[in-house]
Order: sequence, then structure tokens, then C-alpha cells
Amino acid sequence: MGMKVLVTGGAGFIGSHLVDRLVQEGNEVVVIDNLSTGKRKQVNKKAVLYKMDIRSKGVERVFRKERPLVVVHLAAQMNVRLSTEDPRFDADVNILGTINLLEHAVKQGVRKVSFASSGGAVYGEQEVFPAPESHRTDPMSPYGISKLAGEKYLAYYKNTMGLRHVALRFGNVYGPRQEPEGEAGVIAIFAKLMLDGGQPIINGTGKQTRDFVYVDDVVEAIMATIGEDIQGTFNVGTGQESTVNECYGIIKELTNSSCKDLFGAAKKGEQLRSVVDVTKLREGFNWEPQVSLAEGLKLTVEFFQGKQK
Ligand SMILES: NC(=O)c1ccc[n+]([C@@H]2O[C@H](COP(=O)([O-])OP(=O)(O)OC[C@H]3O[C@@H](n4cnc5c(N)ncnc54)[C@H](O)[C@@H]3O)[C@@H](O)[C@H]2O)c1
Repeated sequence: MGMKVLVTGGAGFIGSHLVDRLVQEGNEVVVIDNLSTGKRKQVNKKAVLYKMDIRSKGVERVFRKERPLVVVHLAAQMNVRLSTEDPRFDADVNILGTINLLEHAVKQGVRKVSFASSGGAVYGEQEVFPAPESHRTDPMSPYGISKLAGEKYLAYYKNTMGLRHVALRFGNVYGPRQEPEGEAGVIAIFAKLMLDGGQPIINGTGKQTRDFVYVDDVVEAIMATIGEDIQGTFNVGTGQESTVNECYGIIKELTNSSCKDLFGAAKKGEQLRSVVDVTKLREGFNWEPQVSLAEGLKLTVEFFQGKQK
């Protein structure tokens, strides 16, 4: 390929994997990340990192200087719980930050913007399983609302300014480098706790389902859709529902943990079932999730084991 790509959030979990892949393919990569949850050491040495907030004026300077052809916008406030406690902050980063980027992308003649949305958050409690992209959107959290707003702004800039775009609605992404400290990422939390000899607590019955998709498969979906011609909204997941209990059981086995199976109160407002239909992405791009849950969990546990040494 060999083009210049700006990745916001490139020091984070998904972003750092994407940057590695882009560099590996011979692209020039520029990262904007304020390192609020991301880590400098995760950023590929061949990428240029600007430690900067996506809401700041400095973004303009980066666009002018670097003139990226494509922007992959992953930087976000991505903590659902925090979004309910501080909806203003969530909207500030996820909506105003996105507008700031899109404004400069238009001004600098960026060819295409790829935006990370959330299949877990924008649909709300589903009526159809798995949910196709045409499913009613009824987000249950400020985070889901701000992600949906991001999609709408993309459409606005496309309709009025001709900015090409892709919105990718990710399922529950998991894999190496995910933060176990955070709210999100039940898999990272279980894996880290069990390896440390800790005692996880399963929220509710553990029968709630999610579409757990391995980070490499998500990176491949981003790579496949940044090509010039393709536009639109695409789910990125596996199309398979797995329960939290299922993940818990596999991780327990992989880590040889002797923890007890403890269940706590269900989280308020938590969705019961979430799974996305990936037919559109599969048919449009020949994309197919490659990593099974068992394999992905093994790779994730191995990563956290390595980190502990
Ligand atoms: N992980 C998932 O399961 C999942 C699911 C659906 C959607 N997403 C979306 O994918 C994207 C990446 O998520 P992730 O899991 O890698 O999370 P992450 O927290 O690891 O990555 C987000 C990155 O953005 C940076 N960032 C946050 N606020 C910023 C700001 N104001 N200015 C500049 N940088 C900022 C953080 O430092 C971090 O490096 C997010 O947009 C998230 O909403 C993730």
C-alpha cells in the first residue's frame, strides 16, 4: 500500500495493534494520543507520536504538517460506566473531539476517515440476534449515544463535503494489551485476576452474552475497509454469542486457577444479550474472523503470563 495514515488512539489497545500492522505493510503512520489510557511504549518505533488531545487546537498543526491520506479515528472515552457518571466529559471527547478531527480532515483534503463505533452500545437491547447494521439503534448509555452521534457526523461530512467514511461497529474486542484495570474488557480482568491468584466476581448470572472478537480480526477489518472506494457502516464481530460464564470457564482452565465461582449483583442497565451480524463485511470484503474464542483466550492469557514475568 504505502500511504500516510493518521491513527488517533494509536497508543491504546486496538490502536497499537493497528499501528503495528500498518507499519508492517509499509505505510507511514502518525499517531495522535493523549496517553490517558494508552501507553507510549506500545507505540511502534516507526510511527510518529504526537502526545496531544483530539480536542485541542494542535490537531490542525498535525494535519497541516503530516497531510495524512487516511485517518483511523480510535481515540475515545470508551468507559461505559464513566459515561453514565460524567456524560459531559464523554460527549466532550467523543462528540466534540470527533468534530474537531473531521473539520481538519475536510480542510486538509483527507481521502477517507474510518471511525470506531460500537455494535455493543449503539443498538441497545436487541430485537434480532445477531443484529444487522439496519437494526434499530437505541443506545442505553451516554457512551452509546456519543458513538452514534459520531456516525451521524460522519454522514453529515460525507453528504455536505464529500468526505469518504467507514463506521465500524465493533463487538467486544479482546486480546493482548487490553487494560485489565478498566471497566471494559471482562476477559482481561478475569485473566489478570486469575493469574494473580485473585478472586473474580461475575456480575449477575454470567449468562449475559457478548460477541467477543479477537483484536487481530478487528485490525484486519480496519485494513480491509480503508481502501478508497468502500464506504458505509459495518459490524465487526463473529456473529457468535458467548456467555460471560463460558469465557470465565475457559480462562479458569487455561490459568489453572482454583478460584471460587462467585456471582455478584447484576450491573444496572447492562444489556443481556449482544451479538452482531457480520454478513455485510463478510460478503463485501471477503473478511472472515480467523481466531476462535478458545484460541483467542489462549493467546490473551499467554500475553498476561508473559507480562508477569
Ligand atoms: N475494546 C472494545 O471492545 C471496543 C468495542 C467497541 C468500540 N471500541 C472503540 O474502539 C476504540 C479503541 O478502543 P480501545 O479498546 O483500544 O480503547 P483504549 O482506551 O485502549 O484506546 C483509546 C485510546 O485513545 C486515547 N485517548 C482517549 N482520549 C483521548 C483524547 N481526548 N485525545 C487523544 N487521545 C485520547 C487513549 O489514551 C487510548 O490510547 C474506541 O473508540 C472505542 O470506543 C472498542
